Amino acid sequence: MNPTTTKFPLATGLPPKFVWGVATASYQIEGAASEDGRTPSIWDTFSAVPGAVVNGDNGDVACDHYHRMPQDVALMKSLGVDSYRFSVAWPRIQPHGSGPINPAGMAFYERLVDELLENGIAPWVTLYHWDLPQELEDAGGWPHRDTAYRFADYAMMVFDKLQDRVDTFTTLNEPWCSAFLGYNVGVHAPGRKDFDASLAATHHLLLGHGLATQRMRAAETRPHTYGITLNMGTADPAGDTQADRDAARRADGMGLRLYLDPLRKGEYPADMVEDLTARGSAMPVQDGDLEIISTPFDVLGVNFYFGQDFAGTDAEGSTHEANGDPVVRAVLPDTPKTAMGWPITPERFTQLLVRLHHDYPGLPMVITENGAAFDDQPDASGYVADDDRTEYLSTHIAAVAAAREQGADIRGYFAWSLLDNFEWAEGYAKRFGIVHVDYETQERTPKQSALWFRASIAGMRAS
Ligand code: NOJ
Repeated sequence: MNPTTTKFPLATGLPPKFVWGVATASYQIEGAASEDGRTPSIWDTFSAVPGAVVNGDNGDVACDHYHRMPQDVALMKSLGVDSYRFSVAWPRIQPHGSGPINPAGMAFYERLVDELLENGIAPWVTLYHWDLPQELEDAGGWPHRDTAYRFADYAMMVFDKLQDRVDTFTTLNEPWCSAFLGYNVGVHAPGRKDFDASLAATHHLLLGHGLATQRMRAAETRPHTYGITLNMGTADPAGDTQADRDAARRADGMGLRLYLDPLRKGEYPADMVEDLTARGSAMPVQDGDLEIISTPFDVLGVNFYFGQDFAGTDAEGSTHEANGDPVVRAVLPDTPKTAMGWPITPERFTQLLVRLHHDYPGLPMVITENGAAFDDQPDASGYVADDDRTEYLSTHIAAVAAAREQGADIRGYFAWSLLDNFEWAEGYAKRFGIVHVDYETQERTPKQSALWFRASIAGMRAS
């Protein structure tokens, strides 16, 4: 199979030592939902709620990666990647969310790490990619302060077993999604709709990150790279009005600064605190929390999919919601969209990365996720000539190179995702993989985008 490299020139502009990888997450690919002592996570429970996930899909089988791991590592090797970003499923390691380690669950990740290393691929561990043990949710979940301490205990179990072989540990993936989609909007597990609970969840996620980072660093027997991955976009005013500028400020505040300011500056943004106070809400900060949350870390994981604009008025021109909150209405830029309905905005990727470089200086960045879902049309052999995804990757990798030229310290790029997989509330209908998965047969077939990615990596390494 030939990548159509004449149609899509290979990526250039990134140095030979740049880290190239692919990313996945436990619940999205593993399956084996009740094997070797794994207990239900909040996503198992949520998926069983009628109407919560498109087509009633769930992660029971997913890509069956738990049973096909060696073949999947061979696939990664065939793509020539330097690193593989995967997450560890907390309910496999500590099935009750507290208490002793489950050796059978841990053994899977030890085998995975060994397999990666034998194939010359550096493991990049994410400790939490949304699969909270259900028992911890039953005890209050992330809005409950104790969950932060439970997370740090769990992180140490994984760290103790893997720190000899794994260099990079990131604590959380996209805590905004866990907190706001999970506890405020309710479209992600656990499906709660309580704004104040989502603020408490944010604070406790960040606290858990800080506690785990401190404890891992204190226990390390050799130097490691510690980090956290945030989802970030750009939030520009939809129009030149005070209401729109204010809406963009609020969107940026809730989506980005509410996380990065405490992590890097040791404080929640003053304008957000003021806004929250005005509506009678507050972050449940206790003495010493912000020192813990701002524990230094080494790498910021950036997940970028799109940027958008915000308006401060609704369709009728009103500036306030029925509950009194100011209107913050997303307005999608007038660009082509992916199958998720997300606008394709590579120039905003550069804008974001340069802004992070200026506003939060001195922190190396790695793109821990970037990619796109499209309605792929496989041929009889399963091959997908995914021009749209190839173009998305090509323009976004170019955007990373442009940001580096403007001074941003970006060290690597992980494509989301290695495989088509369980896209949360969208189920299996939305395909983000650079490798096609036939869910009937579990056959994997690299798409054109994967072949283009492989050739691009090889080209830049040799340059
Ligand atoms: C971010 C999440 O980390 C990942 O799990 C998800 O599949 C992608 N975005 C695409 O929505």
